[in-house]
This record gives sequence, structure tokens and C-alpha cells, in this order.
Amino acid sequence: MSDHQPLAPDQEAAADVVILAAGDSTRLRSKVPKVLHPLAGRPLIEYSVRLAEAVSPKPPLIVVGRNADALMAQVGDRACYVHQEQRLGTGHAVMQARPSLQGRSQSVLVFYGDMPLVTQESMQQLLALHASNRAQGGVLSLLTFESGNPRGFGRIVRSSAGDVLAIVEEADCTPPQRMITELNPGLYCYDADWLWRSLDLITVSPKGEYYLTDLVAIAVSQGRQVLAHKVSDPVEMLGINTRVHLAEAEAVLRTRINHRWMEAGVTLTDPAATYIDDTVEIGRDTVLLPGVHLRGQSRIGEDCRIGPNTTVVDTVVGDGCRVQYAVLEQAALEDHVEVGPFAHLRKGAHLASGVHMGNFGEVKNSYLGPGVKMGHFSYIGDATIGQEVNVGAGTITCNYDGSRKHHTTIGDHAFIGSDTMLVAPVTIGAGARTGAGSVVTHDVPPGELALGVPARIRPRAE
Ligand code: UD1
Ligand code: CA
Repeated sequence: MSDHQPLAPDQEAAADVVILAAGDSTRLRSKVPKVLHPLAGRPLIEYSVRLAEAVSPKPPLIVVGRNADALMAQVGDRACYVHQEQRLGTGHAVMQARPSLQGRSQSVLVFYGDMPLVTQESMQQLLALHASNRAQGGVLSLLTFESGNPRGFGRIVRSSAGDVLAIVEEADCTPPQRMITELNPGLYCYDADWLWRSLDLITVSPKGEYYLTDLVAIAVSQGRQVLAHKVSDPVEMLGINTRVHLAEAEAVLRTRINHRWMEAGVTLTDPAATYIDDTVEIGRDTVLLPGVHLRGQSRIGEDCRIGPNTTVVDTVVGDGCRVQYAVLEQAALEDHVEVGPFAHLRKGAHLASGVHMGNFGEVKNSYLGPGVKMGHFSYIGDATIGQEVNVGAGTITCNYDGSRKHHTTIGDHAFIGSDTMLVAPVTIGAGARTGAGSVVTHDVPPGELALGVPARIRPRAE
């Protein structure tokens, strides 16, 4: 577990950020900790960490629980960590942060690690609100939102004059409080000294938890000002508790990501049926057709036409490529490559400029040089193919002998006849040819023709 480093003077004014992520994720019914569930290609906790990074130069402090190892492996040294051994509530979770943070900054921002949709703008609004609150001697500022569907959220109780008096958890609401539609999303900014002093005033709830939300009533009882800003877009405030929430958040993020790319000059003919991870990059004037999934560290160039029904995972695609009904995984396409329909590129497939790979092909761990034509029903595995080679229909590299993989090398301008079996290890020289249906078990020298089963070099005519 890492400790906070000494701060540069310019960092002292910035808020410390505490992210609460020690809770159990029982309602997801999952073996995977809640904050590591993927959402648009990033684990849930990533959204909180990125938000913290956007609003403060200080690394956030994450309160971790049983999920500690997996969470720390994911986020690494971009954050600091503190353990909450027993899950005694959100107030208790913040208490765990006190030894690391007390005396270090003027303000502390606290939010929950299961809110992936909060925008930087909302966070900035909270910080701005808190700056003015502090200037008037206030100690606590928070965001609220209005929703007709209060499912499980704490209710914001206000006085008749409109001042915030308390947050009441749904379980503890009186019937009239239950009807309140102003809700607590769980984003707070505190005066640091006041926070660290006041946490001890929280008393245990009937449920046996220390509620962070009790600090509102505590501040009010001390005559300290609490200010709340109601955000305009309640969608941002979705907290993930169930798989239904996960799907709702995914839909919101997908819409945001798709809009971002359309604004950047990418055409999506059916955005509702286009799935782009938050991690992907796409060039201008590329067209994405329905059923496209772009995932992981994929980068797509300009002027491409991808889809319909294509999955691209951790793959780099150059400019002007056309890919339809295909699955591309950990592959690389240079410019003006055509793939599909019905093609599968696997790990280490590298197609140079102008390669044409037509229907029902599979390429794995192989380089296909510029201009290679591989039109129909071929498997190329563990091969290096030179430029302008013609790979005839049904060609197969027999790369596996039952225990080991072997390499196939094909020189520039070679012509591989239809249905050739290339039994690796084997080399076909530059400009060489193989006859249709031949089974090539020995190297073919440059310029020669090999034929038959097993293939033999045909003597040159005199
Ligand atoms: C909390 C709020 C509620 C608010 C809602 C918004 C409290 C008491 N209630 O309720 O007012 O409307 O969030 O989503 O704060 N956690 C810990 N340690 C714990 C308990 C929780 O780290 O002992 C973390 C969880 O990992 C989670 C966050 O705190 O990230 C919120 O916990 P959760 O149990 O989801 O709180 P809610 O019941 O949703
Ligand atoms: Ca929650």
C-alpha cells in the first residue's frame, strides 16, 4: 500500500479526493467485485479515478475492502489506498482515510466508486459551489438531483426556507420524507478540518452503520452552512447497484461515445447498433455500419468502411480500409486493405497495404506483404508472405504437426494454386508456382513449378 508523497506547494490548494469502494457488491450477484465490472471497455473504478484526476492534481485515495488486490492491480500507483476492514458504512469508510489525509489540504472531495456517469463539469460545479460556501464560512457542499424514481437514494430534507437540513436514508424515511423527489447522488465537498473533526460525531444507525450522510444534520446543528446544487441531468447520478443499472449506464455511455465520434467526423449509420469502447480511436470520414463493435485498444484510420456486423478488438486499422462481416483480434491492417465478408484475423495477423482477403479466410501470426490476394477459403498461420503473392482458393498452411508449430515462407510474386497444402516448415521461392491440389512437403526454389501429391518440381521444358 502506498502513502501520499510530500506535496509541491502549488498542490496544497487542490482538494484531496476520497473514493469509496470498499462496499460489497452483493446486488450484482457476481464473483467479480463491482468496481471491476467493465463498462464501455473500462472497469467501473476507472471512471472515478479519471474524474478525480480531472479535478485534482493529487492522486485520489481509494478506500478498499475485500476487493483490494484486484482493484489495486487495476488502478496501480495512480491512486493511494486505505483498507476498511469491516464494512460499517460510508461514514466509517471515510474515517479510514483520516490518518492519511488529516492536515494536508483545505478541502476534501468524497464520492462513491460506483458512479461512472458523473461529468467533469458537474464536479467543477461542486468545487465552485464549495469555494463560495467556504468563503462564507460553510463547511459542506453537495450535489443533488431530482427524480421521480427515487429507488434507494437518500432524500434531501429542506426547511420551508429552502435550506438543506438533512439527508435521510430511504430505510429511515417517514412516509412524508419518502415522497421527497430531491435525492442524494453521493458527491460531497468538505472543509477538511471540519470533516476530520466531525466524523466522530456520527452515531451508529439502527442498521449498525455509520452514515456519511449524517454529516449534513451535524453541520446544521452546529449552525454551519450546507449548500447544495441541483444538477440538471439526473442521468449522471446513476449509481451502479445491479446488473440492470450496469446496462443502463452502458447505454448512456454508448450514446455519449457515439456522439463524440460523430462530432469528430465519423459517420455512424445506426448509432443505436454501434458499440465503441471508450478506449478506441477513429479517423475522420470513416463510416461505421450497423453491428460494429470496436473494442479495447483498437485504432481505426480515416476513410475506412467498417461493417456491417464486424468486431474489432485491440487491432490497428490504417486508412481507406474496408472490413465487412469480420472478426479482427490483435491484428494490424495497413492502408487500403480489404477484409471479408466472413474473415477472421487472429493475434499477430499483419496485412500490408493493399492486401485483399476475401471470404472465409483466417490469418494468424502471419505477415501478408503488399498487394497479396487471398480471395477464398484459406488458412494462413505462422507464415511470412512476400508482396503480390496470389494465394489460391482453399490454400492451407499445415503449420501444426500435433506437437509443434512450424513456419511457412512464400517469396514475392509467387503463385499458390488452388487447394495447395503447404506442409510447414516449408519455403516457396520468389516467383515460384504450385499446381492446384498439390501437397507441398519440400521447399520450392525460386521460379520453379511444383505439382502433385506429394509435390515434385516439374522439370523446365527445354
Ligand atoms: C449511498 C448513500 C445514499 C445515496 C446513495 C447514492 C449513505 C449512507 N447513503 O447509499 O444517501 O443516495 O449512496 O448512490 O452514504 N462503501 C464503503 N464502505 C462501506 C459502505 C459503502 O466503501 O462500509 C462504498 C461502496 O463501495 C460504494 C459507496 O460507498 O461505492 C456507497 O455505498 P452503497 O452501499 O452503494 O450505498 P447506498 O446504499 O447506495
Ligand atoms: Ca450505491
